[in-house]
Amino acid sequence: MSLLETIKANAKQLNKRIVLPEGLEERTLKAANEIIADGIADIILIGNPEQVKSKASELGLINIEKAAIVNPIKHDKKDAYADLMVELRKSKGLSKDEALKLLENPLYLATLMIKAGDADGEVAGAENATGDVLRPAFQYVKTLPGISVVSGAFIMILPEKEYGENGMLVFADCAVHPDPDAKQLAEIAVATAKTTKAITGMESKVALLSFSTKGSAKHAMVDKVVEATKLAQEAAPEFDFDGDLQADAAIVEAVGKKKAPDSKIAGKANVLVFPDLQSGNISYKLVQRMAHAEAIGPVLQGMAAPINDLSRGCSVSDIVNLVAITANQASGNM
Ligand code: ACO
Repeated sequence: MSLLETIKANAKQLNKRIVLPEGLEERTLKAANEIIADGIADIILIGNPEQVKSKASELGLINIEKAAIVNPIKHDKKDAYADLMVELRKSKGLSKDEALKLLENPLYLATLMIKAGDADGEVAGAENATGDVLRPAFQYVKTLPGISVVSGAFIMILPEKEYGENGMLVFADCAVHPDPDAKQLAEIAVATAKTTKAITGMESKVALLSFSTKGSAKHAMVDKVVEATKLAQEAAPEFDFDGDLQADAAIVEAVGKKKAPDSKIAGKANVLVFPDLQSGNISYKLVQRMAHAEAIGPVLQGMAAPINDLSRGCSVSDIVNLVAITANQASGNM
């Protein structure tokens, strides 16, 4: 069984309730139809029920009738959710009127459903920008204890098997935190080592990437990567980290041996941690397009409940895959 088949098979055993706030978006509806047909999760769509049903019938999506549909303008829990929002944002001075207004936004409503225990996870982002999906999650669901920074990992599956483990690598942060400092980068490296082990079963061999290998260049940007590597190794001695490493030294055995002969990671890395979001996001998109890699994710790491964000260029199968991953995260499997 492939990794994705295993993830979906696990999800089918879990019966998790996954909320899709973009209930009128075509790819989301098609994905919901497939997820319900395959029993991957119980689906909650947010949107005007008449409009959702009419769009589903226009598209011939017969399984949508089995989804729960919540109208963001008018639903039974609106008042209770608004009270919860006011309580959670007391320090920010949120008023009940402001909360009631925010709840009309499906992205806020979805996070409140999770916070109140009415849904187990959320997948959104087919039509909303990442920031708009994540902000409500940061404000109401927040991070896991001990985690200060949420980040996004991609499982990259390459058709060529020569890199990583049989062509599989995990990249991070490709989705969330624009400019991490050394401590935050270390947190991202540790979170990605854990995500890699939990989702793929691989022993994480983590390279913290730079334009320098083992001090070949001197710059404050390189110092940050060196410091992050040290902090990550201290925080999680059960995993192997190394940096500063250039991308070729990290993944090409011959180059790794030459540039970093004493490294346990050089030439063997299966986890690539990028120094900032620009390099991470650019790299995953280039590898996805130019090397025809399958990019599964972003899997968000460090959030207190599973909320995952899609790229607006996502396909129906990207949504199905991310819902299956979210269901697994909701059960603590990942
Ligand atoms: N982890 C945890 N919490 C965070 C993080 C983080 N990485 N970033 C911000 N927060 C929290 C803040 O502490 C704050 O909490 P508070 O309101 O309780 O005090 C709240 O989130 C809002 O913080 P702001 O700094 O106001 O957040 P802002 O909205 O400006 O930025 C955001 C956060 C939206 C995630 C921003 O960092 C961003 O836009 N990142 C880039 C996302 C992106 O565009 N990715 C690329 C596309 S994704 C793709 O291609 C797959």
